[in-house]
Amino acid sequence: MSQSEIFVLPSPRAPQLRSSLAMIKVRKLVKRFGLKTVLRGMDFSVERGEFVALLGPNGAGKTTFLRILASLSRPSMGGVNIAGYRLPDQAAAVRRRLGVVSHLPLLYGDLTSEENLRFYGRMYGVQDLPARVAEVLELVGLTPRRRDLVRTFSRGMQQRLAIGRAVLHDPDVMLFDEPHTGLDQDASAMLDTVLREVAARGRTVVMTSHDLARAADLASRFDVISRGVITASVHSDEIETNNLLAFYRQAIQSS
Ligand SMILES: Nc1ncnc2c1ncn2[C@@H]1O[C@H](COP(=O)(O)OP(=O)(O)OP(=O)(O)O)[C@@H](O)[C@H]1O
Ligand SMILES: [Mg+2]
Repeated sequence: MSQSEIFVLPSPRAPQLRSSLAMIKVRKLVKRFGLKTVLRGMDFSVERGEFVALLGPNGAGKTTFLRILASLSRPSMGGVNIAGYRLPDQAAAVRRRLGVVSHLPLLYGDLTSEENLRFYGRMYGVQDLPARVAEVLELVGLTPRRRDLVRTFSRGMQQRLAIGRAVLHDPDVMLFDEPHTGLDQDASAMLDTVLREVAARGRTVVMTSHDLARAADLASRFDVISRGVITASVHSDEIETNNLLAFYRQAIQSS
């Protein structure tokens, strides 16, 4: 059975039409750590159904930015709106609509992989939870390890479970911070399948990556962040894949 065949999502909803409604809207976002300003008045907007690859050099502010969108960190200044809710004050409503894969896998080490998914599934009010958990464990290739404590997992296995956790409740918006890091070939292919499936269902995705070829393969838009601001943005139908590296290089030099 192929992975795309087993990726049946819970309680299917009508496909969402593309609309001009911004699912993510960020205005003049500033983030400071002490005296250091990392995000410098960033503007960023993503429409429903867009898949944005957020590209940029080490230290540009990608993780800092995604952590703010994920309500894991508070902005110093500026407005952040996700699915119609404001951050940080409406963080609980935002979290229910988000799936996040970050450097910290946000998992409980003293629970098994199955228990972790059940815990998050209850929190998100997922229907038919035992069946959905079994389906997601199968999707991420962890069925044989479902009864093992997560603290005994390898890094790649934790990453697989983090991906499962992010898609469990079929959220409207998904944030992936270098999600392929640490995954083996099979798990990377599984993740690509998940990402394509999520995009095909009209969900909104922001993914950071240093892998331009992979980003080119998946995303519908490429944004470059350099020194805490977006310096360039292009839609996939406006650029040839083999020009993406030149586009990126120019965007990081122009800041
Ligand atoms: N908690 C923190 N305290 C102080 N500085 C921080 C903190 N978190 C991030 N920074 C700084 O913010 C800047 C941006 O870091 P960030 O992790 O967002 O970069 P990035 O674009 O994700 O880089 P990479 O490609 O290496 O993952 C860096 O200079 C980093 O040192
Ligand atoms: Mg980072």
